[in-house]
Amino acid sequence: MVLPEEERGGGVFRAPAELLREAHVPSLDKYRELYRRSVEEPQEFWGDIAKEFYWRCRHTGPFLQYNFDVTKGKISIEWMKGATTNICYNLLDRNVYENKLGDKIAFYWEGNEPGDNMKITYSELLCKVCQFANVLQEQGVKKGDRVSIYMPMIIELVIAMLACARIGALHSIVFAGFSAESLCERILDSHCSLLITADAFYRGDKLINLKQIADEALQKCKDKDAPLRRCIVVKHLGREELLSDGPSSQSPPLKRLCQSVQEKKAESSKKGRPKIPWDSEVDVWWHDVMKNASRECEPVWCDAEDELFILYTSGSTGKPKGVVHTIGGYMIFTAATFKYVFDHHPEDIYWCTADIGWITGHSYLTYGPLANGATSILFEGLPIYPDVGRMWSIIDKYKVTKFYTAPTAIRLLMKYGDEPVRKYSRKSLKVLGTVGEPINPEAWLWYYRVVGEERCPIVDTFWQTETGGHVLTPLPAATPMKPGSATFPFFGVVPAVLDEAGEELEGEAEGYLVFKQPWPGIMRTVYKNHQRFETTYFKKFPGYYVTGDGCKRDKDGYYWITGRIDDMLNVSGHLLSTAEVESALVAHSAVAEAAVVSHPHPVKGECLYCFVTLRDGHDFTKNLMEELKKQVREKIGPIATPDYIQHAPGLPKTRSGKIMRRVLRKIAKNDRELGDTSTVADPAVINHLFNNRCETIL
Ligand code: PRX
Repeated sequence: MVLPEEERGGGVFRAPAELLREAHVPSLDKYRELYRRSVEEPQEFWGDIAKEFYWRCRHTGPFLQYNFDVTKGKISIEWMKGATTNICYNLLDRNVYENKLGDKIAFYWEGNEPGDNMKITYSELLCKVCQFANVLQEQGVKKGDRVSIYMPMIIELVIAMLACARIGALHSIVFAGFSAESLCERILDSHCSLLITADAFYRGDKLINLKQIADEALQKCKDKDAPLRRCIVVKHLGREELLSDGPSSQSPPLKRLCQSVQEKKAESSKKGRPKIPWDSEVDVWWHDVMKNASRECEPVWCDAEDELFILYTSGSTGKPKGVVHTIGGYMIFTAATFKYVFDHHPEDIYWCTADIGWITGHSYLTYGPLANGATSILFEGLPIYPDVGRMWSIIDKYKVTKFYTAPTAIRLLMKYGDEPVRKYSRKSLKVLGTVGEPINPEAWLWYYRVVGEERCPIVDTFWQTETGGHVLTPLPAATPMKPGSATFPFFGVVPAVLDEAGEELEGEAEGYLVFKQPWPGIMRTVYKNHQRFETTYFKKFPGYYVTGDGCKRDKDGYYWITGRIDDMLNVSGHLLSTAEVESALVAHSAVAEAAVVSHPHPVKGECLYCFVTLRDGHDFTKNLMEELKKQVREKIGPIATPDYIQHAPGLPKTRSGKIMRRVLRKIAKNDRELGDTSTVADPAVINHLFNNRCETIL
C-alpha cells in the first residue's frame, strides 16, 4: 500500500500490512525498543544472538573490550575473546544436525547461460566442504595460514572459503575481474602459499581465461622470490557433467530464451575450448584431489577473536588495504543483519547479485544467509546477457522473495524501460535491497514501482568492507522509507555527524559520518599493518571510527549519505582510489604526471576523468589513449578503465605544488563556478584545460 502523496510526509513510503504481520520487527516502536537495548546493554543483546550458535567454550573474560581513542593507546576491539567456536560448523553442521536442514537447498546455481544450473543442499555442501578441508590439510595448510582464492561465481568458491574457515585458515578472495598484477600484489601482501582458481569462464559472451591470468600473477610472484607452492584448479568450463534442471516451472519467455541460448552454445562449442596453461610442479585439478578425500573433517576450534579472512579494499594512498575480520563478531553480526534487514523466513528464496569477490558476497551471499539456514541463488552471469530481461527471468524462475542488488544495475536496467521487467512475474517478491553507493530517487522509485509493483519495501543498506555488515539501514516492515536515505542505524551502531573541528552536530546537520562505539562486525586491523588501521580510521577524529563518507541528517533523524569525502570514488559500487589509477597511468613511459578525479556517470554513478601531462617528445594521439586505457586495465582491472582522458600540458597547482583536484573536478564538469582560485600558481592553465575538455566518453 502506498500512502497518497499528501500523507507521505515528505515522500515517506511504508510496508504493506501483509509484511508487518509476520515481520521480526513489525513497527518503528519495536525497532526503537530493540535499538535502545542493543546500545545500552550490548552484552545482553548480542549475548542472546550468540546463544543461537554453537560455542565449544564460552568466553571467560569481558564480553566486549575496546579502545576507540588513539590518544589513549592502541586501537583494539574484542568481542567474546576467549570463547571458542568454528564458523563453518555453525553454518553447516549446526544447520544439518541441530536444525534438521540437511535436505534444504543451500544454493541454486544459475550459470552464465540460461539453462545451466545446479543445486546443492546443506548436507551436500557440508560433505564437499569437509572433503576440501581435508585436501587443504593434505597440502599443508594450517590454522592461521592464508589461502588466495581467484574464482568465478561457482559453488566451488563457497566450498573453498568454508573449507578454509573449517580449518582456521584465512581466505583472501580476489575478485575474478582483477588483473594479474592486482592478484600478485594481494598474494604477496598476505603471504599466501596456495591459490585456488578455475580453468576459464564466460562473462556474457566474453571468454575469460582465468588460469592464464592466474599464471601471469604466479610468475610475477616468482620473480619477486615469493613462489606459491600449489595452485588448485577447478575444471569449470570443461565440466563434463552438467547440470540439474532446477525449478521446472519455466515461464514461456524463459523457455524460448533457454532454447535459443542452447542452440548458440552447441554451435560455439564446435569451435573448441581454450587451451589451459599447466605447470605440473604447481598445478593440480580440483576433481583429482577431491576424488579420494574423506567426507569427514573435524573442525578446528578457534578463538572468537581469531582472524577469519582478509579482503582487500582500495586505500587513498593507492596501495590496497587488507581488511581483517575475526570469527565470532563477524558471525553474529552478519547473521543478525541478514535476519532483520531482509526479514528472513525459512521459506524465502533469497538472491544477492553481488560477486563473492566483494564484501557483499562474503557477508550476504555466504556467511549471513548460511548462518540463517537460508536458500540462495548464486548467479554467475551478467544482468543483460543474453538479453535485458535476464534478472527478471531468474526472479520468475526461482520465485525469489528477497532481492538485493546495486544501484548501478538498477540504473542500467531502467534504461531499457518497463517492458522487459513486466514480461516476467515478480509476484513472489517481498523485499528489495540496494547496496554500494547512493541511490538516486529516480532509480529508487523505478525499482519500487516497476520491479516491486509498489508492494515491496526497499532496504537501502549503507555499509563498507570495513564494517562487515549493514550499519545504516531500514528494517523492511518497521522503517518508513524515504527514497535515497539509508534511514537509521542498525542495532548496536551509534552514528554521529561531526563538523571539520570534530564537534558533534545535533539535529538537522551535515558533516562527516562517524561511529562512536564498536559493533561486533567491525574490522579489527589492516593485515600486518595496525598502524595504517589506526591512521586511516581513527586519527582524524580521536574517539570515533571515521567512515570517509559525508552525510546529512534531516529533521526526522534520517541519514542521507552524500558520498566520499576523501580521494576515493565509487564506480558501479566499487571503491577505487584516484591515487591507484594515477600510479597506473604514470607507469607508462609517455606520462610525466597524472591527476584523476571522479565524474558523475548516468549508469555507473561515478567514473574516472583523467588528466595526463606527457613527457617531452610524446604526442597525445588516439593510439596513446588506447595504450593508457590498456595500461590501467592491466595494472588494476577492467573496473578501473578510464572514461575520459584529457591531455593537460599543465595542471592547476598551489604554490607549494599540490594538485588542486577541486578545480579539476569542476573542469571535468565544465562548471566555471570555481570559487577561490587565488592560490593557483598559474591561472592560465585552468583556461587551457577548460578549452580542451573531453566531451565524450572514450
Ligand atoms: O561510500 C560508501 C559507499 O560504498 C563505500 C564502501 O565501499 P565498499 O567497502 O567497497 O563496500 C561496498 C559494499 C558494502 C561506502 O564508504 N556505499 C555503500 N553502500 C552505500 C554507499 N553509499 C550510499 N548508500 C549506500 N547504501
